[in-house]
Amino acid sequence: MERHWKTIIEPFKIKSVEPLGFTREDERERVLKDAGYNVFNIPADKVLVDFLTDSGTSAMSSEQWACIMRGDESYAGARSFFIFEKAVRDLTGYRHILPVHQGRAAERILMSVVGGPGKTVLSNSHFDTTRANVEASGANAIDLPVPEALHFDTPGPFKGDMDLKALEAKIRELGAKNIPMVIMTLTNNSLGGQPVSMRNLREVAEICKHYKIPLILDVARFAENAYMIKQREAGYSKRSPREIAKEIFSYGDGCMMSAKKDALVNIGGFLALNDPEWVRGAREVLILGEGFPTYGGLAGRDLEAMARGLEEVLDEDYLAYRIRSVEYLGDGLRKAGVPIVEPPGGHAVYVNAKKFLPHIPPSLFPGQALVCELYRIAGIRAVEIGSLMFGEGSNGNFKPARMELVRLAIPRRVYTQSHIDFVIEVFAEIAKRKDLIRGLRIIESSPRLRHFTARLVPEAA
Ligand code: F0G
Repeated sequence: MERHWKTIIEPFKIKSVEPLGFTREDERERVLKDAGYNVFNIPADKVLVDFLTDSGTSAMSSEQWACIMRGDESYAGARSFFIFEKAVRDLTGYRHILPVHQGRAAERILMSVVGGPGKTVLSNSHFDTTRANVEASGANAIDLPVPEALHFDTPGPFKGDMDLKALEAKIRELGAKNIPMVIMTLTNNSLGGQPVSMRNLREVAEICKHYKIPLILDVARFAENAYMIKQREAGYSKRSPREIAKEIFSYGDGCMMSAKKDALVNIGGFLALNDPEWVRGAREVLILGEGFPTYGGLAGRDLEAMARGLEEVLDEDYLAYRIRSVEYLGDGLRKAGVPIVEPPGGHAVYVNAKKFLPHIPPSLFPGQALVCELYRIAGIRAVEIGSLMFGEGSNGNFKPARMELVRLAIPRRVYTQSHIDFVIEVFAEIAKRKDLIRGLRIIESSPRLRHFTARLVPEAA
């Protein structure tokens, strides 16, 4: 009988290192001011711990770097393409595999084939680029998360699920012929990185089948979702993450993937479909914007690294470490008195800034104020998911978002437990004098996706 240890260690050793950007507090204050209190404008070498995103920030394995050297760069029919195609087909079971440079390219291609005015796409929650691509085609995007997804303080095993009653009601209201697809996002990044249960996915698939609506999966974080099903859903504890993932894919008619997350690469993605009509249209758009269908905007080496990443990400020791390390950050913050979206997600911990900084009204961006404080005192970079990102207007005509969160997204295989301990220590320090944190005002912004470019100033004391 194998002995079980309590400590879950990083399941890798480090072969190549990259120095961190240590800075002084007065320097960071200057950097923040120059950046217009918008951390997207901060040069990365002035950041100590970068939790801005888990996307494209993974550390590749030595095997993936070997793939980079092996990559076949032929324009058409590269060996690396066939390795990639086989890996995706074996995993997903879908017939046609189209590589793309990243997730949003798959979204744009699919929407230009089946989107358009008068159509509506339904989802547990569209990620923002997914929504933007649906809307750019002229179609509507509607989110139908389960109500518990918005109860941030109450933990639940599958808060990424879709509201089935709302789904059926919407289909009846709009008419199935006006709904080109239902999208299930696994895990649900827009609402706390929460997983979707197999049961919910199966039921959504049954409803879609009944109304003859294709079900497309957004599988940016499918492996994390599969592992949480293994841990939390009855009947799955003895099944391997790969078996669970295969069952997930079996309920869809196709998928879109941003490989920058769970394929452990820095760039890449794919669209995988069964319907030959959709594929014909998608291939045309692919050639127009991405490249020939055997490379799709990527280098051959990227395809090969992706194939390998899709295998490594399903390793059970990796997933146990991954899910545990995010949970560990959540546990530490909770102990430090920091309210988080419960439970911690698969790729990130989301801090409830509205609750943590009740003295700052949504119109003065409590999430962004916390993001700036994290950077100011310790060089930690996080991202606001609140009224700066999703609200509208400012000052007089301000419309808040429905939440004020700060996402701490953890890059895969990049940081160790002591980095996480450091972040927890910083939060404990902030919690002691959080009442002194001031809100921010927008002084410059654009009407769309303003969080990327807005400039702000702190409120006068
Ligand atoms: N779908 C989901 C669920 C995502 O989280 C993202 C990206 C995309 C699609 C788009 O993929 O970036 O490769 O074009 N999420 C990143 C993030 C940007 O930080 O959460 P992409």
